[in-house]
Amino acid sequence: MSLSIRQIHPVFVGEVSGIDLTRALSREEVAAIESGMDRYAVLVFHDQKITDEQQMAFSRNFGALEEARGGNITRPEDRRLQVGMGDVSNLGKDGRPLARDSRQRAFNIGNMLWHSDSSFRPIPAKYSLLSARVVNPTGGNTEFADMRAAYDTLDPDTKALIEDLICEHSLTYSRGLLGMHDFSEEERAMFRPVRQRLVRAHAVSGRKSLYLSSHAGAIVGVPMAEARILLRDLNEHATQPAFVYAHRWRPWDLVMWDNRQMMHRVRRYDDSQPRDMRRTTIAGEVPTTAQVTAA
Ligand SMILES: [Fe+2]
Repeated sequence: MSLSIRQIHPVFVGEVSGIDLTRALSREEVAAIESGMDRYAVLVFHDQKITDEQQMAFSRNFGALEEARGGNITRPEDRRLQVGMGDVSNLGKDGRPLARDSRQRAFNIGNMLWHSDSSFRPIPAKYSLLSARVVNPTGGNTEFADMRAAYDTLDPDTKALIEDLICEHSLTYSRGLLGMHDFSEEERAMFRPVRQRLVRAHAVSGRKSLYLSSHAGAIVGVPMAEARILLRDLNEHATQPAFVYAHRWRPWDLVMWDNRQMMHRVRRYDDSQPRDMRRTTIAGEVPTTAQVTAA
């Protein structure tokens, strides 16, 4: 059976069948997935009983793995998973759900805000791949919002206003929204704001999209209150139901998405029960500020 992709949402998202991600892929299969990503921006694969090593090997077909350092407050000695694997579970190193008052848990709750992975890095992520190992019994859907559709449906004045704006992104902004301000000097240095364009053009299709994220907390040259309201309005527009797909996880689903064209968030779930989700992240190649878009 050969690879095929079926669109499962009116605007985006493809469901892929006819492929086994645990084995080495042919060049044609990799190319078909990559062009599926360019078109659908989110791809869903079911029944992929994958190990961490196989997930990393599959991910490397699309670029270098992003180094996780600087993206979390978890100390290396407290990590549950090996280097190369991002831990998006609610579990500690002992394999049990984190305590309710855990700082790590509070930090992870930030994933429930709409965001684009690694937008707080000078060169933000290309793809993320998330494998569901243990699905939580209640809630925990991941939602995706199509930032291309969001851009396309802006009015011409807003498009002109935002075309060349540069935002500042930092984990201190997104966590600050949740009342988390107790960062050490070392963490503050690690989470120093970086600059990202507000409008991006896709590397292959050239199609424009909004580049929003809960990490965006300021706009260069725009007074703070005005910047925050503009970002809030754009977020509201971009996450309207018509542009959102909610993924209800089944064990061994693997979902990959293009962070350059999507935002996503996790919905609340029963934190007394495990939710073991493992992410690999493909590094981006150029800073967004290096890009010039033509109006
Ligand atoms: Fe994320």
